[in-house]
Amino acid sequence: MTATGFRYDPFDPAVMADPLPFYRVLRDEHPVYYVDRWDTWALSRFDDIWNVLERNDGTFVASEGTLPSAAVLATHNDGPVPDPPLHPLPFHANFDAPIYSELRRCTAVPFRPRSVAQLAERIRTLANERLDELLPRGRFDLTQDYGGIVAASVVCELVGLPADLAADVLAIVNAGSLAQPGSGVEVANARPGYLEYLTPVVTRRRAGDSEPVPIVDNLLAYRLPDGSALSDTEAAVQLLGLFIGGTETVPKIVAHGLWELTSRPEQLADVRADLTGNVAVAREEMIRYCAPAQWFARTLRKPFTLHGTTMSPGQRIITLLASANRDEREYPDPDEFRWDRPIPRLLAFGRGQHFCLGAHLARLEITILVTEWLRRVPEFTVDTAAAARPPSSFQWGWSRLPVQVRGA
Ligand code: HEM
Repeated sequence: MTATGFRYDPFDPAVMADPLPFYRVLRDEHPVYYVDRWDTWALSRFDDIWNVLERNDGTFVASEGTLPSAAVLATHNDGPVPDPPLHPLPFHANFDAPIYSELRRCTAVPFRPRSVAQLAERIRTLANERLDELLPRGRFDLTQDYGGIVAASVVCELVGLPADLAADVLAIVNAGSLAQPGSGVEVANARPGYLEYLTPVVTRRRAGDSEPVPIVDNLLAYRLPDGSALSDTEAAVQLLGLFIGGTETVPKIVAHGLWELTSRPEQLADVRADLTGNVAVAREEMIRYCAPAQWFARTLRKPFTLHGTTMSPGQRIITLLASANRDEREYPDPDEFRWDRPIPRLLAFGRGQHFCLGAHLARLEITILVTEWLRRVPEFTVDTAAAARPPSSFQWGWSRLPVQVRGA
């Protein structure tokens, strides 16, 4: 509690239901806000987060995970937290270089710009197959039934699973990201469900019973600094980031972004006037305005001073990316959706060491999903009463957006 009575806690039910008013007060009055219960500093201004994430000198590490639950944050450290033990190997983001960067490189191959570009026609086909099925129905869920299935199909194919598992994968990732007020996302509890899909992929590949899967093959060939290899489960755990990141975010941005656009007929007409040129521009505003991830955490390994406040080793920061996306110091009238707003800098994909591995793929998917929708759907309405944006400390996004299409 501050002198003004303001209080912010990322797991407070009121914050999880609508964090935006809290972020405005944080940015204006408490840019370095201490959450005593979690021994964590909340950073809310664009410029501060931009500068902090850019540091790659071991001041900020993710040794307690980038998305620690309340159970982890409840422990107050009395000094720097070392890297986790090598076995059982957790998700590589918990390590600093070189293990972090070497393992990230193993999973990075299909996400490079040239590899991603080769997926364009496959994504367009998947999008049109969904529209062939959905448009005759008239009413369906824009988040789950359209972008959700397409994004999950792409993830399945990247990790060597058949695309017809997309609906199951989407359901399990959605369930795993539901955050409970007071405790946040129990990522550890959600993992066994995900691993039921991912571990068999590794086991089959090791036995030579499946076609090559470049990411999995790289992980199987990798040796840790002590010379040991990854077990099937340890390799599968390295796939969790792209399994979750690849499935969840794009569909919410596409559905919410199309909703914002269709609520502003003049903007919609502008974008429709040149889909090839304008969707890529509108896409950036959709990402800024609609990206659902709220924050990611780091643990300090060295003291760091910001706005006259010194944070100590063992304490944590949470970078409120969703607040940075609405910072009036960076974006004039940030709560207005403007399809062609200049966006010289963007933090929605993070920055620095942990910069989103899937950023090129995400941009391509959003461009194709929005373009094909606008090409084939002349008019649609959102059933606002049935739309749902579940409270969350992690992914606060429109996970249910029922729509009715006309004239398709
Ligand atoms: C518009 C959609 C997306 C947004 C806004 C987004 C956002 C982010 C952000 C902010 C981070 C950094 C987390 C941190 O600083 O700790 C991140 C990391 C990551 N994202 Fe995305 N993401 C998106 C789509 C995707 C897709 C499509 C994939 C893969 C298929 C993906 C895979 C990952 C992975 C693996 C990481 C972890 C990187 C690391 O720690 O080295 N994301 N994402």
